[in-house]
Amino acid sequence: MMTSEEMMRFPEEMRPSLRMVEQSRNDRVAAVRRGESYPSLSLTDREAWLEEFHPDYSYGGRRALRVGPSRGMEVPVELAELLESKPRRIVQQLRRIEVEKRVDVLVIGGGGAGTAAAIAAAEAGQSVLIATKLRHGDSNTLMAEGGIQVADHECDSPLQHFLDVLGGGHFTNDRDLVEILVTEGPLVLRWLEEQGMQFDKYPTGRMKVRHGGGTSRQRLHSAGDVTGLEMMRVLQDHAESLETIETLPFHAAIELLTDERGRAVGALLEQVGKNRVMAVQAKSVVLATGGFGRLHVQSFPTSNHYGATADGLVIAYRAGLPLRDLENSQFHPTGIAYPESKTGLLITEKFRGLGAQLLNRHGDQFVFSLEPRDVTTAAIIRECKEYDNGVATPSDGRGVWLDIPMIELLHGRGTIEKEFPGRFKEFMHRGIDLRTMPLLSYPTLHYQNGGVSITPDAGTDMPGLFAAGEVTGGVHGKNRLMGNALLEILVFGLHAGRSAALFSQEMGEGGYPGLSHLEAFLSDLDERSVNTNVTAPSLLPSYGPVEWPLTGINGDRRDNDDLTGRFS
Ligand code: FUM
Repeated sequence: MMTSEEMMRFPEEMRPSLRMVEQSRNDRVAAVRRGESYPSLSLTDREAWLEEFHPDYSYGGRRALRVGPSRGMEVPVELAELLESKPRRIVQQLRRIEVEKRVDVLVIGGGGAGTAAAIAAAEAGQSVLIATKLRHGDSNTLMAEGGIQVADHECDSPLQHFLDVLGGGHFTNDRDLVEILVTEGPLVLRWLEEQGMQFDKYPTGRMKVRHGGGTSRQRLHSAGDVTGLEMMRVLQDHAESLETIETLPFHAAIELLTDERGRAVGALLEQVGKNRVMAVQAKSVVLATGGFGRLHVQSFPTSNHYGATADGLVIAYRAGLPLRDLENSQFHPTGIAYPESKTGLLITEKFRGLGAQLLNRHGDQFVFSLEPRDVTTAAIIRECKEYDNGVATPSDGRGVWLDIPMIELLHGRGTIEKEFPGRFKEFMHRGIDLRTMPLLSYPTLHYQNGGVSITPDAGTDMPGLFAAGEVTGGVHGKNRLMGNALLEILVFGLHAGRSAALFSQEMGEGGYPGLSHLEAFLSDLDERSVNTNVTAPSLLPSYGPVEWPLTGINGDRRDNDDLTGRFS
């Protein structure tokens, strides 16, 4: 129970609702102890709720691409603008840039997928350059909280994991990719342990595992609520220890370079914040640039890293690479809705994995807390919009309670501090004690789901170009389950690095690095009369006229004209 002083930290209007949450808590805890849970939705209801309430289906939220290899495919309008944009510099200027550096494998992106790829390529005997837009490691991987799914316990199996991934993705996933994901999971887990990653364990040394949304078994392995930070620590140390890996921070790829046969042979890199471009020639290239979470699809807030601006999608699309599964974006059900200074930041699903329940303003449950993410998101929006059962914030946003204090009652005192050291300290610092105070949450843009199509060896449609991580599509289909991104970046990051190394060894140096693919793309824009003033990749988000309160919070449906140009 909150003290009266703690209660006073919430606005007066929220307090009656908080009291109802506290009043219903003991009964809800007792029900959990009896093994009772809120009923899971039927498949029919799931589909119906998604169509009616998930932002993916909002009128005007997506539009068909007018140019390029995936012409006709519907993507969020914010992304469509970037995919149909002009280069940051005119082609004539770019053509004059001379090659400054030559390596065997160029890895674009210094997050988890890129670093894993670099390690694999270097260990296969190649010289590697990691070109990264920000600092090495500064990425969404670093911010990942809840964990990594791996089927390594007796009661679980890769097959069970496979079925969960397919179910979560509404059976739209590439099954060959999913098979690799789940069967190589245990190997990746061991690899991380060998590098010194500290997972949560029982005193016996057995790894702790938890449920994530949509999982039939407990298989989420974590390092407190800073799993990505701990993972990135060991990956970076590993990469640093390899002499053949060089890192070039604050250099963003602005175009791929291709030879006369259409093979990837390098990239143009722009030094961030400086008017300087350099060309790097490589025998093979790995694209690992992450996702588009900073595009604030439909003006939703985001849980994402500052660098998540779809740069890799943009340069790959211009180079003729087809995309898939971008119709559906992932909104994490529990972004912070209050305090509003933190709007959109992540409250990890692990809280729900340990028993925290979602409650409306009456203190009632309205959905099973561990439905797949897209379903839980739709349920929260439904509760706030359709039934007006959300809790109002001072800026007239809405949210539902995440009853975190239940965790201490279910698992014993000290659990929250131990399992969530990051968020516990952060909130304590702001006067919010998660052991006694629920948090107000609302969906936040979290993940890209789809991207560049890849083959099981992380190859793409372009010879010499490999890709891994959030920039790719196929593994998760239309909806990713929690903990499968950290697994994917490593499984396919390692594949990409090995494949790129093999390609470099077998094929040697390619032809002259050029930009004919870009000229072809620009002609396509002209021929289809696509006039645009947008230049991309944007490298960093432009925070010009973002409206407050964010329309996503209010659930407003907007038409295309409202959205066009907002973030250009
Ligand atoms: O809720 C979370 O910790 C998010 C994890 C994920 O997106 O995999």
